[in-house]
This record gives sequence, structure tokens and C-alpha cells, in this order.
Amino acid sequence: MKGLVLVGGLGSRLLPLTSFVSKNLLPIYNKPMIYYSLCTLMQAGIRDILIITYPRDTHAFQKLLQDGRNWGVSIQYAEQVNPRGGIAEAFSIGKDFIDDDQCALILGDNIIVGEKLHVMLHQAIRNHSGATVFTKRVSDPERFGIVNMNSEGKAVSIIEKPSSPTSNLAVTGIYLYDNSVVDYASRLTPSHRGELEITDLNNVYLEVGKLVIQQIDDEIFWFDVGTIDSMLEATIFIQNLERKNGKLVSSPEQQAYLNGWINREQLLRCAETIGIKEYSNRLQTLAEVD
Ligand code: DAU
Repeated sequence: MKGLVLVGGLGSRLLPLTSFVSKNLLPIYNKPMIYYSLCTLMQAGIRDILIITYPRDTHAFQKLLQDGRNWGVSIQYAEQVNPRGGIAEAFSIGKDFIDDDQCALILGDNIIVGEKLHVMLHQAIRNHSGATVFTKRVSDPERFGIVNMNSEGKAVSIIEKPSSPTSNLAVTGIYLYDNSVVDYASRLTPSHRGELEITDLNNVYLEVGKLVIQQIDDEIFWFDVGTIDSMLEATIFIQNLERKNGKLVSSPEQQAYLNGWINREQLLRCAETIGIKEYSNRLQTLAEVD
């Protein structure tokens, strides 16, 4: 399975912080935001990754992540010229990269953490056909794509940012698709917001009976870090978790090592390049204990 990370957009809701840099390069605790979504793909066992950027920011992402070799993955880059072309535009931009494979898409501002995350993802990928969306209950459903159910509790549609939500089951920003996604996405038309909506794409799968809606376990935590308060909330959460467990959360270096994609020497070399003492020390400790 191939992986796409969408980090385009202008980040207008975070100006002036994003006037010269992508939102996805801003820190969430001790890592750039994009590390979390990359690490989620790595936890799913995905090594072939396309990062879709806004052209202004491509160089900065390339400088940070290079070709992924240091983490045992392959990273390529593509650009979304229209910053509001829509999330589903990722599949026409990534068409050649996806080729005849299945793919996972993750939004670069979605942070998903939990001990059992890799289990959930591996299970979903193993049995995968059609499309899978992962949902969480939220207190502010008007901000998300929401699953609309009939009286028997069967999903009948997904509604993007409903003004009168019929449920509080939000679709999170990680999605799995079979190869038909390229064809289905190419037939979408822009919404009233002028975007190719991911929700419209998911509704196509729902209509043909090929959408799996999987609820995320309570022990797996999800943040959509689209606002300054949610960035701070996620930062405090990650800080607490790392301090409590004495382990890094969503570190791509750590994940590469745990996946067996890099060896001890490569992990130590990664640790040397990190100036944040606790981060670097934790990688060194990991190399020593194993
Ligand atoms: O986080 C989950 C939610 O993500 C879903 O529940 C919604 O169904 C889905 O539409 C999306 O809603 P958001 O309001 O969070 O989408 P937003 O426009 O903020 O875009 C999410 C990220 O994707 C953001 O970091 C910018 C990037 N993006 C967005 C668009 C529309 C792009 O790179 N290109 C785009 O064209």
C-alpha cells in the first residue's frame, strides 16, 4: 500500500504564523507537525510515501525530510498549485505515484496516537477492500465530516460540516482506498466551496456499498490541529505522554528502528543530528537497551 500525506493549503487560520512557512512544519511539542502523520503511515507499515505540498513550501519539506532514506522509507514530493483545490485532488496529483496500488491518505494536521494504533491499522489494511474511514465521537460535529445514520443506525451518507448534525461521529483525516479511488476522484466535481471534497469521494464508496466505517478505539487519541488552541492541546498531551511513559511519541526515527527498517548504527546517527537533548537521549537509550 502507498501513502499520501497532504500538507498543502495556505494555513490562513494560523496567520501570521503561516505567512512564510507551512502549518505542517510548526512544532507540536518536540517535533514538526508532519512527523506525526508520517509516523502514523510508518506504523501502518507503509514505506512508499508521497508528500503533497503547496509550491511555496516544497523546498522546506525537502530540506527537512529529504528522500526518507534515513528512516528506511522512500519519500517523493508533488505539488498542489491551488491551495483549496480540495483534499480529493490528492488522487489526481498522486495518480502516477499510486499506479495500480491501494493507498492511504493522511492529512498532515491530523495527529493520531495510541499504543494500539499499529494494530488497528494493520488489521484494517490486511482485510482491506473498497474504502475505509476511521471515526471518533466529537463534541463539535459542525467542524467535521459527519456520518449520517438512519433509524436503524445504518450509515446512509457523510455530510461535510453539517449545520444541523444528525450524529457526533466524525470522520478523521486518515483514509484507506482501493485503486478505484483514482477513477472515482477524477469524476468528482467541485463543491459549493470550490473544492474536490473528500466527503463526496467517501459518499461514492458508500453508495456502491464499499465503504467501511471503523470507529477508533477509546485508547487511541485523535487531534485535528487546525487551530492554535488545538495545537497547544496536542502539544501538552504529547508532552504529558512522553514524560509519563519515558518514551517518544510518534518519532519517525524510533518507528523506523522498531519496524526493523534501520539498524542500531543508523538510529544512533539519527540521534546525533537531533539538538533537543531529551529526544536525542531517548533514541540513544532505545539503541542501547535493544
Ligand atoms: O480532520 C478531519 C476532517 O478533515 C474531516 O472530518 C473532514 O471531512 C475533512 O474535510 C477535513 O476537514 P478540515 O476542515 O479539517 O479540512 P481543511 O480544509 O482544514 O484541510 C485539512 C488539511 O488538508 C489542512 O492541513 C490543509 C490541507 N489541504 C486542504 C485542502 C482543502 C490541502 O493541502 N489542500 C486542500 O485543497
